[in-house]
Amino acid sequence: MSEEFYNVAEAASLPPGQGRTVSVRGREFAIWNLDGQFYCIDDLCPHRGSSLGAGNLSKSVVYCPLHGWGFDVKTGACESRPDRPVKTYPTRVVDGQVQIQLQPFSSPTPSED
Ligand code: FES
Repeated sequence: MSEEFYNVAEAASLPPGQGRTVSVRGREFAIWNLDGQFYCIDDLCPHRGSSLGAGNLSKSVVYCPLHGWGFDVKTGACESRPDRPVKTYPTRVVDGQVQIQLQPFSSPTPSED
């Protein structure tokens, strides 16, 4: 099954430098407009779970509002803790809508941990 795109926001509602949290399929993602290009990362900060969509963007790095860890919205890399990156998701704009691409639903599999 191919990956699926989901509408998450009107592109015009998110000017450059702005971001927000969006919800798709019961999960939250942070989308950011960086100089007219849209990027999507997981909204959940891997430190203590704050919302990265509520952070502040400087160049390509969004800073978590709670303790200031910085994440590159292009790569998901964490500049504060390189061992704690966030996942990134492809985006595109179709008919004025920002879309993010997610893997199709899959059945939960038991953890082997
Ligand atoms: S919760 Fe994000 S840096 Fe602490």
